[in-house]
Order: sequence, then C-alpha cells, then structure tokens
Amino acid sequence: MKAILHCDKKWGIGKNNGLMFRLPADMAFFRSATSGKTVVMGSNTLLSLPGGRPLKNRSNIVLWPGGDEKRAEELGYTIVQTLDSLKAAVRALPPDEVFVIGGAMMYRTMLPYCSQVLVTKVDADGGADTFFPDLDSEAGWRLAEISEPVCDNGFTIRFCTYVNDSPLAL
Ligand SMILES: NC(=O)c1ccc[n+]([C@@H]2O[C@H](COP(=O)([O-])OP(=O)(O)OC[C@H]3O[C@@H](n4cnc5c(N)ncnc54)[C@H](OP(=O)(O)O)[C@@H]3O)[C@@H](O)[C@H]2O)c1
Repeated sequence: MKAILHCDKKWGIGKNNGLMFRLPADMAFFRSATSGKTVVMGSNTLLSLPGGRPLKNRSNIVLWPGGDEKRAEELGYTIVQTLDSLKAAVRALPPDEVFVIGGAMMYRTMLPYCSQVLVTKVDADGGADTFFPDLDSEAGWRLAEISEPVCDNGFTIRFCTYVNDSPLAL
C-alpha cells in the first residue's frame, strides 16, 4: 500500500478542509498513479471532493463511522465503519493497487502500513492548518527518489518517493 499527497515546505497538506494550491501537473500525476486502483480516504476528504462524490475510475473506500451506507451505494463508494473493517478490506487487495489519499487523520492511521509515500513537495508556505508527519525525521522512512523541479501553475514542485523498508502487516 502507498500513500499519495502534496505538501508545502512545512509538510502542510490542507487548510479549512480544502487544498492550498491548484496544481494541474500534480493533479495529472495523481490521476495517472491512482486510476484503475483503489483509493482509501477519511470522511472529511470525501466531503472535500466536489459534491462529496467519489473519484471516478477508481474504487473508493471511505472510513466513516456512522456514515450513510445507502447514500454511499447511490454515489458509488464503499463505507467501512471501523479501522478493523478497513484493514480487512485492504488486506483482500493486491498491495500495489491501494493508495491512501488522505486526509491527515487517515494518513496518520495508515502510514505504518505503507511501503511508500509519493509526496509532491511544493516550494511554498501555504499557511496550512493540517499537516503530514515530517518523513525526513520519521524513524524508518528514507527519501529514495526526487525529481528535478517542475513549474506548476507558478509553483515549483518536486515529485518525491519515500520508502519504508519494514511496513507493518495489516
Ligand atoms: N495535500 C493533499 O494531498 C491532501 C489529500 C487529502 C486531504 N487533504 C486535506 O486534509 C484535510 C482533511 O484532513 P482530516 O484529518 O480532517 O480528514 P480525513 O482523514 O479525511 O477524515 C477524518 C475523518 O475520517 C474518519 N477517520 C479517519 N481516520 C480514522 C480512524 N483511524 N478511526 C476512525 N475514523 C477515522 C473519521 O470520521 P468521522 O469523524 O465521521 O468519525 C474522521 O473524523 C483537508 O484540508 C484536505 O484538503 C490534503
């Protein structure tokens, strides 16, 4: 399982339950990495998507204790009510086919089980109120790859891959 996100230079990932930057190149990277795969998210991240709708061309699993299963069925996503059910759902899938896509609480919960984190680093301070753990000082994680800088909508971004050689078993 992998996590995927973009963050600012302080590892900030969001503000007011939304994203801080509009990044078309990063969005294209996200779409290409996750299309045809399963994406796992917390309820706030689902609600932050347009219309509270799941992502197209992907199987969407949402951890949402007390979430409305009927609405989930209508809109085409799966609700799991507990972390144990989430783990069971993910265990049944090939690890390379699963991406954790946020938000902060979901990332924190699933990070120890991830073998990789794909981080798009934005060289700016977005004034975040929500943060990802700083993987440069998180035990067990190392930066394995970093791209050349790319200009995306006026921001300098770099595509990074962090690796955890000993992810926990789900
Ligand atoms: N930069 C990026 O790439 C990126 C990507 C995604 C999201 N974000 C940002 O992240 C922010 C949202 O983060 P967030 O932490 O508020 O939202 P979140 O993780 O999407 O959702 C949190 C909610 O999900 C459920 N949940 C998550 N983990 C759980 C656990 N271990 N056990 C039980 N329930 C759990 C709970 O739902 P209930 O409260 O319903 O019980 C919890 O309140 C927004 O600003 C968003 O834009 C950024």
